[in-house]
Amino acid sequence: MPDFTATAPGKIILFGEHAVVYGQPAMAVPVTEVRARAIVRPEIGQKHGGIHLLAPQINLDAEVRDLQENHPLAVAARGVLDTLEATQAPACTVHLVSTIPIASGLGSSAAVSVALIRALAGFLGHPLPDESVSALAYEVEKVHHGTPSGIDNTVVTYAKPVFFSRDKELRVIPIKKAITLVIGDTGISSPTAETVGAVREAYQNQPGHYRDLFRAIGNLSERARGALEEGDIQTLGPLMDENHTHLQEMGVSSPELDVLVNRARDAGALGAKLSGGGRGGNMIALVQEKDAARVSQSLREAGAVHTLTTTIQATKNGE
Ligand code: PMV
Repeated sequence: MPDFTATAPGKIILFGEHAVVYGQPAMAVPVTEVRARAIVRPEIGQKHGGIHLLAPQINLDAEVRDLQENHPLAVAARGVLDTLEATQAPACTVHLVSTIPIASGLGSSAAVSVALIRALAGFLGHPLPDESVSALAYEVEKVHHGTPSGIDNTVVTYAKPVFFSRDKELRVIPIKKAITLVIGDTGISSPTAETVGAVREAYQNQPGHYRDLFRAIGNLSERARGALEEGDIQTLGPLMDENHTHLQEMGVSSPELDVLVNRARDAGALGAKLSGGGRGGNMIALVQEKDAARVSQSLREAGAVHTLTTTIQATKNGE
């Protein structure tokens, strides 16, 4: 059995976080500058089968069979074996490495799952279709977040800009003109499960108000999809600003996020908003390519612990 390698990109949510949990559409894009990689190697000469996981970045060096039932990587590996109706894997080691910052809204957990699922299935001689890879990665996301919408595993699996609604067919967005985003990290860790829980509680207390906010955000996602498909980048910035205002009203922004969002706008961004669960984590700014370095520098001066510039390329014919 030869080695088998698979990779998966990071991701960032452009529009619609939180509202997507309540059935509204959201939009996310792959961040290809950062990646997770899984390499599966056979352990020749070992008497017993089994999968060994090696992930030095999270201090993991263990057999899948020795991990707790709900360990995310064990859920991913067992999911592959169950799907392939394999009771046991031949002895092998899965090396996991990633350049995606952990727990910062860049899809690190989904990307590691997708890379592991693809590499293991390929190693076992049965590469899985994207739909199955995404479905298995969704099971892992549930371990992390409780009630995820499924947008992270979807965008990371397909590695294309997606327009995503729960229970609706996935749409890949054809991008007419490339866009450049600067991502700024507050450095504040804010588990997505907690912000999703806080929004749920607020929604239960004020259902009418929150339903209106979710709908307004879903409407922005729709308009943003149109703008991306038409290459109308000037319209996209103000839509991001509006989405940020709604997220503030929803109570998921924070002083640190607001400082970075305002600073990006002052430095010439076309629009800016928090991205992901909020109350920490990342914000994004839409910029003209020539302004990316200036906006990035301003964000670091305003307290961003790191910044990342990513370009979403225009869709080529037939892609
Ligand atoms: O924090 P992130 O980037 O994983 O995004 C969470 C997005 C939410 O809409 C808040 C939750 C979800 O499951 O869609």
